[in-house]
Amino acid sequence: MKDYSHKEVVKKVEKTVEAACKKQSNIYGYDAWKHHILPVVKYSKMLAKKLGADEKVVELAALLHDYGAINGDPDEHHISGVREAEKILKKLNYPQGKIEEIKHCIYAHRGSRPIKRETIEAEIIASADAMAHFEDIPSLFYLVFTKHKLDIEEGVESLRSKLERDWKKLMPQAREMIEAKYETIKRVLK
Ligand SMILES: [Fe+2]
Ligand SMILES: [Fe+2]
Repeated sequence: MKDYSHKEVVKKVEKTVEAACKKQSNIYGYDAWKHHILPVVKYSKMLAKKLGADEKVVELAALLHDYGAINGDPDEHHISGVREAEKILKKLNYPQGKIEEIKHCIYAHRGSRPIKRETIEAEIIASADAMAHFEDIPSLFYLVFTKHKLDIEEGVESLRSKLERDWKKLMPQAREMIEAKYETIKRVLK
């Protein structure tokens, strides 16, 4: 079996996930790629650098963390995502030990599920997932006003409480990185 460098694996996984985002069956639309997956990758790598964690593991875990949801399984995407990630990475001959670490990050990324995070890389993915929401306020407006059709006050209130919940999920180093942004958003949503 061919050995791929980490960079080559990333390129291939990017292609796979972006293609899945483009599919008609993806209920989140192609926006999910640019406005969610890519910011999660960016913040994961920044946090890994800051914390001395495995940048390669978080890069691939971030790319694949919502793959299950993008492929039509929003409710249990932390489980289907693990299955899909394993298939994809095995095919690329990625080291099994690293695959296990990536799978754990995906399995434990959801704030809504009481799954214990056993590694710093898993903590990073969960934080970066929440941080991505602060990156892209226009997407959140789109969600509350266009998709959920809330009126202005309801929409603002829903955004405010969503971001507060996300803020509470963040590890201290993540808070440090986006505190200024959060303060600005809170002023806008007053
Ligand atoms: Fe998710
Ligand atoms: Fe996500």
